[in-house]
Amino acid sequence: MPHPYVLLSAAVSLDGCLDDTGPERLLLSGPQDFDRVDEVRAASDAILIGAGTLRADDPRLVVRSPERRAARTAAGLPEFPLKVLVTGSGELDPAARFWRTGGRKAVYTTDGGASRAQAALRGQKDVEVVPVGPEVDWRAVLEHLHAAYRVRRLMVEGGGSVHTQLLRLGLADELQLVLAPLLVGEPGAPRLFGPGAYPPGRLRLEETRPVGDVVLARYRPVAPGAGPLASAADRYWLGLACDLARECPPSRTAFSVGAVVVAEDGTELARGHSREGDDPVVHAEEAALAKIDRADPRLPGATVYSSLEPCARRASRPAPCARLILDAGVRRVVTAWREPDTFVAAADGSGVLAAGGAEVVRLPEYEGRAVEPNRHLLGGSA
Ligand SMILES: NC(=O)c1ccc[n+]([C@@H]2O[C@H](COP(=O)([O-])OP(=O)(O)OC[C@H]3O[C@@H](n4cnc5c(N)ncnc54)[C@H](OP(=O)(O)O)[C@@H]3O)[C@@H](O)[C@H]2O)c1
Repeated sequence: MPHPYVLLSAAVSLDGCLDDTGPERLLLSGPQDFDRVDEVRAASDAILIGAGTLRADDPRLVVRSPERRAARTAAGLPEFPLKVLVTGSGELDPAARFWRTGGRKAVYTTDGGASRAQAALRGQKDVEVVPVGPEVDWRAVLEHLHAAYRVRRLMVEGGGSVHTQLLRLGLADELQLVLAPLLVGEPGAPRLFGPGAYPPGRLRLEETRPVGDVVLARYRPVAPGAGPLASAADRYWLGLACDLARECPPSRTAFSVGAVVVAEDGTELARGHSREGDDPVVHAEEAALAKIDRADPRLPGATVYSSLEPCARRASRPAPCARLILDAGVRRVVTAWREPDTFVAAADGSGVLAAGGAEVVRLPEYEGRAVEPNRHLLGGSA
């Protein structure tokens, strides 16, 4: 099921705190950064917080600039992004400013919390309470936001518990972190990320920029997911594979496919595309794997991203790509599109991979991008 693009946004002190322990909200950003945040809000379909932030700060979470609101309306969007609250307990203060400002609101909660939330919010306008099961399952929340509210870009404004979970689960596409030049120094002050198991490796630094006296750093988590569940990084790498498919020399007799091989820690090991270089029959996965030393110890933990499922049979070379992947020791493949019968009937490269012990994850929401450079091959079936 598709998810929105998830952008985590937070400001921290030099000693890594989100706030101090006092009753007032600690202002970490300056006026220029608040304006930048307003711009990011205006470009989002929804803004999400946890109930801890509602209780501590009661933020309004609105787009402040009238010009930005007008631009949203002119573009056919609601004046304000949807406001989203996550609560397990359902214990909410109906007098909070959160409910009285902005436009629509959605409250995601547990089955147990739903009746409490509904009782607390009875009579509030534009609020929907959405129970998602006995516990709050973040994937279910993201899927519901995408399907029911058409949220394509979600900004998450904390607090630490929410940011920690989304990063740990591999559900964050981007982290926008602002470092403020002050120290909190209190042992009990809330921290941005708590202890626990995070995806391995380093996040990719995309940008740094001074904004007044704070520094904005934008990071992208790039470590592949594990097992059958797709992570935000899986979506990023599969999107790149689909882009690579557009670089293939044109052909009327073979598919245009892109592939990327990524180590467990998010290091790109190689990329390739069909008919790359001087080889008119090379396949994308074959081209990428040929660039990696067969003794590379990162191969067994790596993921292969391929816009089209790896081939099961081929006329041009003895070994199909599904076999090359298994022989390289790779045990996880993420793909967008199952091979149609255009050149080989009932190819089922995914079946070959699964029979060889590999996990195959398909993200059908990328199928359109994978098909695009191959539309001329598919006649009326595309
Ligand atoms: N500097 C910044 O950029 C920034 C931004 C935002 C917040 N903050 C600060 O962060 C602090 C609040 O952070 P926090 O970590 O305490 O709270 P939080 O992350 O805002 O919210 C935690 C609450 O959300 C609900 N929740 C989250 N995940 C859940 C799950 N998987 N299942 C069920 N419920 C779930 C629970 O609500 P229930 O308790 O209702 O069950 C939980 O207590 C405040 O001090 C605030 O000022 C700072």
